[in-house]
Amino acid sequence: MYEIVERRMIVPNLHEFTVKAPEIAESVQAGNFIIVRPDEVGERTPLSVADWDCDAGTITSIFMQVGGSTAKLARLEPGGDIPTCAGPLGKETEIRDDFGTVLCIGGCYGIGSIYPVARALKEAGNKVVSLLEARSSYLLYWQDKLEEVSDRVIELTRDGTAGYKGHITRLGEILTLEKIKPDLIIVNGCTFLMMRASKMTESLGIKTIVNMNPIMIDGTGMCGVCRLTVAGKMKFACVDGPDFDGHEIDWEEFLKRRQTYNPEEVHPLRKSGCASHF
Ligand code: FES
Repeated sequence: MYEIVERRMIVPNLHEFTVKAPEIAESVQAGNFIIVRPDEVGERTPLSVADWDCDAGTITSIFMQVGGSTAKLARLEPGGDIPTCAGPLGKETEIRDDFGTVLCIGGCYGIGSIYPVARALKEAGNKVVSLLEARSSYLLYWQDKLEEVSDRVIELTRDGTAGYKGHITRLGEILTLEKIKPDLIIVNGCTFLMMRASKMTESLGIKTIVNMNPIMIDGTGMCGVCRLTVAGKMKFACVDGPDFDGHEIDWEEFLKRRQTYNPEEVHPLRKSGCASHF
């Protein structure tokens, strides 16, 4: 069993979740994910790793409450435990000391998972600019942590309550206004953010890496559920990724596969009385 050290809602619908898992904390890298189960009959849920503490033996993820399994995770309390915490899984994000200027874009749970990416890039000697995207200022978090590991932090909110107003489709304009010429862009967050950012950066000619978030079961390349098409070839996000070139992904196919189980996700929520929140 894995002890729950922290589980708190940091902004509406997003939870910070810290579990004691010393073996994972020792070897985890930016870009890895873990798979957890809230109880013995719960589904396996992949969560991107957002931070870790080798001394305390803990790993932290940020997750969004979107379906039955994450609703169960959101009801867990510190001091309790979970039966499954597998990881670190997936390939780590490539970190080099010669990227130059890297723009790290995070939205939703991806503000958390982009943090260790920005930290590793900065430690390697790159210039790091972090761009945090949310619907409104009250959905932004971890700005202080990202400021510590970034040369600059930019905010973008759809209602304009913090930073630039609008969508990620303003990216080209923001880069011009901020006088930033990224050599590489890395995006973590919801599918639409990664897809829209990739479409924007393709026209700007800037290489863009996205951290994909498909439905997963085993997380070790055996079930095929996480498959996606990259540069015309079938890949498994859990073992070939989760990082891929955003300009090579078949986004339409990915979106369709991502939505396959939406009705089944709503059904258990209705039964549990949680569906009124969605
Ligand atoms: Fe089963 Fe990737 S989750 S192959």
